[in-house]
Amino acid sequence: MTKVTTLSEFIVERQADFPFAKGELSRLLSAIRLAAKVVNREVNKAGLVDDILGAAGNENVQGEAQQKLDVYANNQMINALKAQQEVCGIGSEENEDFIAFDQGEAIWGKYVVLMDPLDGSSNIDVNVSIGTIFSIYRRKTKPGTKAELKDFLQPGLDLVAAGYIIYGSSTMLVFSTGNGVNGFTLDTSIGVFCLSHPNMRIPKTGRIYSINEGNYKQFPEGVKRYIKYCQEEDAETDRPYTSRYIGSLVADFHRNMIKGGIYMYPSTGTNPNGKLRLMYENIPLAFIAEQAGGKATNGKQRILEIQPEDLHQRTPLFIGSKEMVEKAEAFLAEADPVAAKS
Ligand code: AHG
Ligand code: MN
Ligand code: MN
Repeated sequence: MTKVTTLSEFIVERQADFPFAKGELSRLLSAIRLAAKVVNREVNKAGLVDDILGAAGNENVQGEAQQKLDVYANNQMINALKAQQEVCGIGSEENEDFIAFDQGEAIWGKYVVLMDPLDGSSNIDVNVSIGTIFSIYRRKTKPGTKAELKDFLQPGLDLVAAGYIIYGSSTMLVFSTGNGVNGFTLDTSIGVFCLSHPNMRIPKTGRIYSINEGNYKQFPEGVKRYIKYCQEEDAETDRPYTSRYIGSLVADFHRNMIKGGIYMYPSTGTNPNGKLRLMYENIPLAFIAEQAGGKATNGKQRILEIQPEDLHQRTPLFIGSKEMVEKAEAFLAEADPVAAKS
């Protein structure tokens, strides 16, 4: 029988990869793992249970309809992280402001977590994959004091760990602490995440492009030209490419990471910075992409180098196979050489 490595065993084995105090990462990840299992349970019964299904009736800070499961996942993550007392605060897409944990031992926590508790929420009630995205930073302020905004507004280059959970045809936890990317699949019969995708690598190039083409008329000229490039016939480069867009960033990204592809959410006429949030979506996935050998930019700048100025800031996103992202960037630069240099 082949030996199965569980997430707990993996964390212990790879403790040395994590440059900080022993046990901390393991406690942080076990909080995330627990919340993931609880959210997974609810996701799986979303079609059955009336009070979970459907919109919660209020809107999140960005004015988007909040689904009940968003609220539920947000609370589960917050409670699990609070209970571990390694984290002095969390920032969430669902909360206007960050939450500082200033009660008990948590105020001594050395880390902060940022998250999109439920990504792809428009897909909850149609049985399509959704996800959770998280990132972990070391705090900037002194342990023992209340967490401040500067603890959260850190560039991706300062990340200590990031990852996502995908609630798909199976549930997976994929994360990196800066030494490559590993994926764990939840064996629901025993409730344990098992290492199923060791050392994940994004193919250098691929044949999938993912973008909401309904916004085509509002895209920058370079994006329009790149889409046309993807659609052209060329035997040598195996074009036309294939178009795949789920509308759940985690799921679109995960598929492209395994098969090779590019995901794009560019600026549009109505959303000049695109739709996706730098802190909760773009930075953590950019970290995973780079750790797997891929690339992530806003069209001209590496996502991980952007200094965040606002918790809910948005940026365009071009992410996935390195060569495909570079090609898209080349089209952008050619169509708008001035913007590319600014
Ligand atoms: P969330 O559910 O956290 O608000 O995120 C939705 C995001 C992302 O998951 C997805 O790729 C994108 O919105 C889809 O946007 P469009 O419907 O504009 O294509
Ligand atoms: Mn999202
Ligand atoms: Mn969300």
